[in-house]
Amino acid sequence: MKRLTVPKIMRRKVDGVTEEPLVMLTAYTARQAQLLDPHCDMLLVGDSLGQVIYGLPSTLPVTLDMMVAHGAAVVRGSYHSVVVVDMPFGSYEASPQQAFESASRILAETGAAAVKLEGGEAMAETIRFLSQRGIPVMAHVGLTPQAVNALGGYMARGRSDAEEAKIVADGKAVEEAGAFAVVIEGVVEDIAIRLTEEVAIPTIGIGASARCDGQVLVTEDMLGMFERVPRFVKKYNDIAAVITETAAKYAEEVRDRSFPGDAQVYPAKKD
Ligand code: KIV
Ligand code: NA
Repeated sequence: MKRLTVPKIMRRKVDGVTEEPLVMLTAYTARQAQLLDPHCDMLLVGDSLGQVIYGLPSTLPVTLDMMVAHGAAVVRGSYHSVVVVDMPFGSYEASPQQAFESASRILAETGAAAVKLEGGEAMAETIRFLSQRGIPVMAHVGLTPQAVNALGGYMARGRSDAEEAKIVADGKAVEEAGAFAVVIEGVVEDIAIRLTEEVAIPTIGIGASARCDGQVLVTEDMLGMFERVPRFVKKYNDIAAVITETAAKYAEEVRDRSFPGDAQVYPAKKD
């Protein structure tokens, strides 16, 4: 199977309708990418890796070097999905030129096909600059975690008329600027539906609506790796319990010397 492309992702939405929703999950490592790849259209190397695998308090301390290292691993582990790499906080906001330097490094050093950045109207000039220079950009509006300090937390957005108007204007601005798709995160459902109807590019929902053109979740959240997750996460499994039970079993067998057993040791040379 040949790898999907950004134009093919865009062509999944025809005259405002996406018959088969786009499937996207986060991936941070090669093996995780290998397992998820056959089931997805896109893999997102999200800066959520800051919290999920580095234990950081937010996505703000995530660096370009971290995104490049994990992005390259995910590209090596996948052959089918379009790989999108998040631009970390501080790597793109200063100017279109700064964004181009960071994004071109991501594409050149990872082999990923696209970058994602947070922001609407304020990032439109940057999105235009990158898209016109061969860098496909996925935008991200609504609840934008890199703006946690300005937003005052991770609560859902769009509960006032002013917020709704802002989110819709952001979505339209990124489309107009040339974004190939837009993530809509943590918004009142009506807004996600409205934006999905009003833009021609695919909308990818997370805490948005089943009527978006696609969905994304943080894989570890979906797998049930964490106790506490946002309302919009559905835990499809309980991987935390699997790991806990498995580690406990291993520890018990080490302590009672039943591991390693005969099958795991090299028998004596018979000569
Ligand atoms: O970093 C991330 O994982 C994301 C998705 C949740 C959209 O940006
Ligand atoms: Na992100």
